[in-house]
Amino acid sequence: MAYFEWGDDLSVGNSLIDHDHQRLIALVNDLHTATTQGEGREVVGGILTELITYTRAHFQREEHHMQAVRYPKLAEHRRLHQELLEKVLELETRHKAGHVTVAAQVSTLLRDWLSIHIRRADKEFAASSAARGLGSTYPGERALVQPPGAKTRMP
Ligand SMILES: [Fe+2]
Repeated sequence: MAYFEWGDDLSVGNSLIDHDHQRLIALVNDLHTATTQGEGREVVGGILTELITYTRAHFQREEHHMQAVRYPKLAEHRRLHQELLEKVLELETRHKAGHVTVAAQVSTLLRDWLSIHIRRADKEFAASSAARGLGSTYPGERALVQPPGAKTRMP
């Protein structure tokens, strides 16, 4: 059994966001495996950087969706993202300074934070969108999948 298991109860009903969350979970598992198997600072640091880069990009995508639909709680949601990022970046700084054991704290922090954040805050956004008649897909999703001006290929 994986350290952090994806389950249907984590789905927010949007395939792009779900995909992002699954990728984040995979990276948290990679980090956990690397730290528990005693991988060196370079390997762990590499995964840590990838995880932080992906987390940041994912938050931006989510906030972009929220902005596109004028989500009333965007500022509050963004604050949650920023608080988490600050904590993770602080741990990364300590890791770079030679405190190698903090990498394990990052996987624990992200596992605990994501499992609550997705179930509460991200699902609250999905429910709010549905209640406002926006369905389970967000405007802008098509633009993310297909760049503007891309030709639709007919079967
Ligand atoms: Fe979020």
